[in-house]
Amino acid sequence: MKQNQRRLLITSALPYANGDIHLGHMVEHMTTDFWARFQKMQGHECLSVCADDTHGAPIMVEARKQGRTPEEQIELMHRRHVADMLDFQIAYDNYFTTHSELNRSLSDKIYLSMKEQGHIFTQTVRQAYCEQDQMFLPDRFVKGTCPRCHAANQYGDSCDVCSSVYNPLEMENPECSLCQSTPVEKESEHHFCRLSAFRSFLSEWVPGHTPEGIAKKLSDWLGDEQLQDWCLTRDKPYFGFELPDAPGKYYYVWFDAPVGYIASTWDWCRKNKRQLEEFWNNEQTEIYHNIGKDIIYFHTLFWPVMLKTAGFQTPKKIMVHGMLTVNGEKMSKSRGTFITARAYLNHLPPEFLRYYMACKLNGTITDIDLNWDDFISRVNSDLVGKITNIASRSAQLLQKNLDRRMSVVSEDGLPLLTKARDAASVIADYYENGQFSKAILLIRDIADMANKYFDDHTPWKLLKEDPEKTREILTTALNLFRCMAIYLKPVLPSWSAAAETLFQEEAWIWDDHKKNSEHKQLAPFSHLLSRIAPEKVAAILDESREQSSAPAPSQKAAAGAVEKSENQEKTEALAAEISIDDFLKVDLRVARILKASYIEGASKLLQLSLDLGPLGQRNVFAGIRSAYEPGSLEGRLIVVVANLKARKMRFGTSEGMLLAAGSGGTDLQLLSPDSGARPGMRIG
Ligand code: 2FM
Ligand code: ZN
Repeated sequence: MKQNQRRLLITSALPYANGDIHLGHMVEHMTTDFWARFQKMQGHECLSVCADDTHGAPIMVEARKQGRTPEEQIELMHRRHVADMLDFQIAYDNYFTTHSELNRSLSDKIYLSMKEQGHIFTQTVRQAYCEQDQMFLPDRFVKGTCPRCHAANQYGDSCDVCSSVYNPLEMENPECSLCQSTPVEKESEHHFCRLSAFRSFLSEWVPGHTPEGIAKKLSDWLGDEQLQDWCLTRDKPYFGFELPDAPGKYYYVWFDAPVGYIASTWDWCRKNKRQLEEFWNNEQTEIYHNIGKDIIYFHTLFWPVMLKTAGFQTPKKIMVHGMLTVNGEKMSKSRGTFITARAYLNHLPPEFLRYYMACKLNGTITDIDLNWDDFISRVNSDLVGKITNIASRSAQLLQKNLDRRMSVVSEDGLPLLTKARDAASVIADYYENGQFSKAILLIRDIADMANKYFDDHTPWKLLKEDPEKTREILTTALNLFRCMAIYLKPVLPSWSAAAETLFQEEAWIWDDHKKNSEHKQLAPFSHLLSRIAPEKVAAILDESREQSSAPAPSQKAAAGAVEKSENQEKTEALAAEISIDDFLKVDLRVARILKASYIEGASKLLQLSLDLGPLGQRNVFAGIRSAYEPGSLEGRLIVVVANLKARKMRFGTSEGMLLAAGSGGTDLQLLSPDSGARPGMRIG
């Protein structure tokens, strides 16, 4: 390696193979891509790798539904993912798959090392099992009523209404989300990693390798109670790798998924005649994992333990970003704001989103909002109007009148170029730290400076009077643009390549900003970028809405995709059809709230006394405390399910359920009948 050259390896979280890449994924792939391209421009050896995450029950179920084998299913998704990456100009050195022999052998190696060192133990676990589907059900495949607040239609691991976390076996009215039958309890033996044995290793490791705020949160997880041993197997049928020493037991997908980081590196090494040990067994190599804040747990607790036991080096840093919101809200299929990479690409070039993301990414875990108005305005006024325009105006004037030939930077332009150059090291630091938004601000300052210089010197007027002075002015403006185009190359590679062509120069590296381009002829000018027409954004949104209303295969699959990630958005599954008779079984009634009160010791519930007219009075506990003051409820008419079996709770018996819209917590709106309704009236 050359002096001062670093050897870097960066990964992005591996996208699931059961759904398309969406703009939320793109935040991460772009971050990785900006960073890797920047490092390469610096002359460092930087390998960026990714892969599809192909195992697990959701993929198996989705394939079954599509009438394909899981292998066919993941192959199809692989092609689509790779095409999305390429078209967004995300240049991974290798995009692999976790369903590969390399990944299997690495997974076995890690598992067997853990076992040899005494970190694996087995234990019998009781789980929900669907006799009809003949499979153990992942938590997210069980739906039912929350055992704590009795909210209906909750997933098997946690309640959206009262936020409690539970085991699917505790749920009331549990249902298999695949066939709607009632699951039974069944025992099975599983393999666990004794994570608690690594408490002191992790306590030491985490602070130096994770962002500050995250390290604090992790220190809670590392507390005595919280660090639970990790179940790393699943029963057949399961699409994944069978354990080498336990037939019928498969690695849980979160076990072999991160191993894919190493497998992808290894695959690249084999294709490029390099040794895996140069990257994963070499303290000189700096390994970075770029992930979203929803999957921190896996990367900061399990993964370092797996690596350490198997003798692989642990990453230098886990880089964590926030989640994407669209116009301030979580992407949602039902609202039509779930935007796939392809829906975007069908209407707009990748540069616009890459630029916009760079404007927003600041190296912290705060969420990143894609606000479409802001998007249009930043692209049109800054990227096109300020940055690109200075090249268009200067190059076209030079082409039309001065034979495309540059001379030298004018004397009064020299200090401006010095200023633009001096920004290089600060911009480089921002890139290094993932603070792309700050880098863009400095680049925009250069654009402002260049535009002011251009406007102040009115070259279009000066042309007749003093063509050589005009040539100097244009040379100056073009050199300022050239600096910007070099600094922006990690973010806008093809736009920058067009600028390289304009200047008739070889592919730029970072240090090329240090010299001026003088006495050279430009290539014939061709347009670099044009403004966004707002209709294009409307077309993306229309296409996304259409995709959301069609029962697309990936949409259904996504319902189970959350098996692995506790905080991931619960993607709305299409509800199973019911008959009118089923519906009529539910006795919906108008009720008046007579009294509402807080309950000591219950943070989510209110106690309500309801008048149901001829049906008498009812006592109901409802998980609406975060959304309503008790006083504001008294006297109000609402809708209740009157024939729900009474339930004994810690505070008393609940004799009904209220209907409300919203996702829970403070986002809850009770349904009320129109005026004229009376307590006890039947609804339906
Ligand atoms: O959360 C996800 O989408 C996972 N597919 C990420 C896996 S990252 C790594 F562990 F492979
Ligand atoms: Zn079932």
